Amino acid sequence: MGPLPLVLLYLLPCVSGLPFYNGFYYSNNPNGWNPGNGHGEGVFNGVKLVVETPEETLFSHRGANVTLPCRYHYEPALLSLRPVRVKWWKLSENGAPEQDVLVAIGLRHRSFGDYRGRVRLRQDGEREVSLQIRDLRLEDSGRYRCEVIDGLEDESGLVELELRGVVFPYQHPWGRYQLNFLEAQRACAEQDAVVASFEQLFRAWEEGLDWCNAGWLQDASVRYPIARARQPCGGLGLAPGVRSYGPRHHRLRRYDAFCFAPALRGQVYYLEHPEKLTLAEAKEACREDGAHIAKVGQLFAAWKFRGLDRCDAGWLADGSARYPVVHPRPNCGPPEPGVRSFGFPDPQSREYGVYCYRPR
Ligand SMILES: *[C@@H]1O[C@H](CO)[C@@H](O)[C@H](O)[C@H]1NC(C)=O
Repeated sequence: MGPLPLVLLYLLPCVSGLPFYNGFYYSNNPNGWNPGNGHGEGVFNGVKLVVETPEETLFSHRGANVTLPCRYHYEPALLSLRPVRVKWWKLSENGAPEQDVLVAIGLRHRSFGDYRGRVRLRQDGEREVSLQIRDLRLEDSGRYRCEVIDGLEDESGLVELELRGVVFPYQHPWGRYQLNFLEAQRACAEQDAVVASFEQLFRAWEEGLDWCNAGWLQDASVRYPIARARQPCGGLGLAPGVRSYGPRHHRLRRYDAFCFAPALRGQVYYLEHPEKLTLAEAKEACREDGAHIAKVGQLFAAWKFRGLDRCDAGWLADGSARYPVVHPRPNCGPPEPGVRSFGFPDPQSREYGVYCYRPR
């Protein structure tokens, strides 16, 4: 016989007869709690485990520390404080698989994947099992489940986390519908942004985003948000909404992109300069001012979160010229607030100033 029977011999005494549930074995540790004979019997007879999480979406921003609250209690109240097992995970979304975040038993915990070293359990209050995440990343937004397991009782609650940011449509310098999915991801990254999720585009549509060109989203679907039904945008027969072309071939099909830029910690400003500049001069002028020429995502974030309002068009890093308007006024573009674009002018033309970005 090979080594197999030996292995079984070592494992069996530890495992056999113990309930296995949600990836955990329940030990007969004398300090722990013995779950008795299962549902309806033993200590848990008639006692309900209740897990509480906030109903409202939590908002935070990139680089911040955030706490996702989660507490549990028993009904009717139980006096004894038994160690429970806690599991936090992120729900599958936008084609991304479900992701384990953290599991904890008593004071021991383990974190997983991108969350390793960035998360811990906050147990300040009695029966608090909140999740603390440090240094938030754009990809951290989504829905998290907090699961508490006490013997065979198993309850969970949901926490939704959104990062503050702004959705903007992005077109390639050559014009409409030039980007396949990978190029859309690259284009958004170059503007200090990521490809927007459907939820982010939907929220932007609720806030009034109207764009008649279809763009890629994070789940590789192609959509466009319409606030007012009209002829060239699907016609009058269709209700306003976020319209879908459905999933499209990643490589072969080309559209615009919807990017999501996070709220900024740095500052975007229009450089006061005696003359208008070429694109190369504009980049140099920001450098001389101890900054960089701003990216499109940074200008949108400053417009949305800092109220940057300026009627002067300026160069941006991608070679486009734009200006941000919060309070529309005569001789300053259309009657709605927005970031106006002059497209991608000749880089040698001297008709624009420049927006610079200084990180903090
Ligand atoms: C987040 O927490 C860490 C310590 O855990 C701290 O060093 C850092 O400054 C905090 N970041 C912010 C933005 O508060």
